[in-house]
Amino acid sequence: MAGGHAFREGVSCSFRARNSIAMPCALCRFGKGGNMPKVGIIAGSGFYEIEGVGIRELRKIDTPFGEPSDAYRICEISGREFVFLSRHGTPHHIPPHRVNYRANIWGFKDLGVERIFAVNAVGGINRAVAPGDIVIPDQCIDMTHGRAATFYEGDEVVHIDLTDPYCRETRGILLRSGKAQNVDLNAGGTYACMNGPRLETRAEIEFLEKIGADIVGMTAMPEVCLARELETCFAAIAVVTNYAAGISDRKLTTTEVVETMKVSLGRVKDVLMGALSLVPEERNCDCSHALRDARI
Ligand code: HPA
Repeated sequence: MAGGHAFREGVSCSFRARNSIAMPCALCRFGKGGNMPKVGIIAGSGFYEIEGVGIRELRKIDTPFGEPSDAYRICEISGREFVFLSRHGTPHHIPPHRVNYRANIWGFKDLGVERIFAVNAVGGINRAVAPGDIVIPDQCIDMTHGRAATFYEGDEVVHIDLTDPYCRETRGILLRSGKAQNVDLNAGGTYACMNGPRLETRAEIEFLEKIGADIVGMTAMPEVCLARELETCFAAIAVVTNYAAGISDRKLTTTEVVETMKVSLGRVKDVLMGALSLVPEERNCDCSHALRDARI
């Protein structure tokens, strides 16, 4: 694998020492790039910017895995900073099966991000959710194929634990923020990730319902898994933008997806911005040492 990055002179990098693939290192980045925000937000269909948020800097990052979807926007609101990335690029031109998930997640790590909040547009399978509802998923079923889904493809064999794919602490932050901001959130749900870019057949949705999926989208995987491989905390805000195929009589359209996301933007923003103020300085979950015991 190509890559690695320049280390600040005189600073030894324990992260790199623990990994034979040259991992990006927050410590080195702080030395090079100044104090960077520790929180990242990645958002997809219909969510391309956060209104009213100042952009301090644009950062284009090259990674050993190629180019991320877009430049990272270093943002600030009420004295709190975060890094924003548009998953499908600007303008929206990268379909879900062609997103460079590895580069996107690597870029966040390279900037020093420890915790990612993802925004996903999803179809509702469970009859208890309707368009406009928001779910904070706690489980995920990977139905994708052919996506580059690991950073460990070389000599080193790593089996990362994904029993609970979403970070417990980071989900808790979103749920507490929802309460504080008066935004109704469904606390849990299983996200089935399909490959796309086509939408599902009626039979596929019936199958997904039978195996326990509540919502369906196209981008959670391998994003969730790659974040864990880089010991980055990850939680998602899944906005139900439509009933999944066959759940209602209405024909599915991408216009409905984007329009429903637009209507939900204010509530999603409130939850995200509220969450920024609830992020603790130190992480108290297992994500930060996820690679411990994961190597053969
Ligand atoms: N299926 C898959 N992905 C989606 C959907 C859907 O119904 N809605 C938004 N993203």
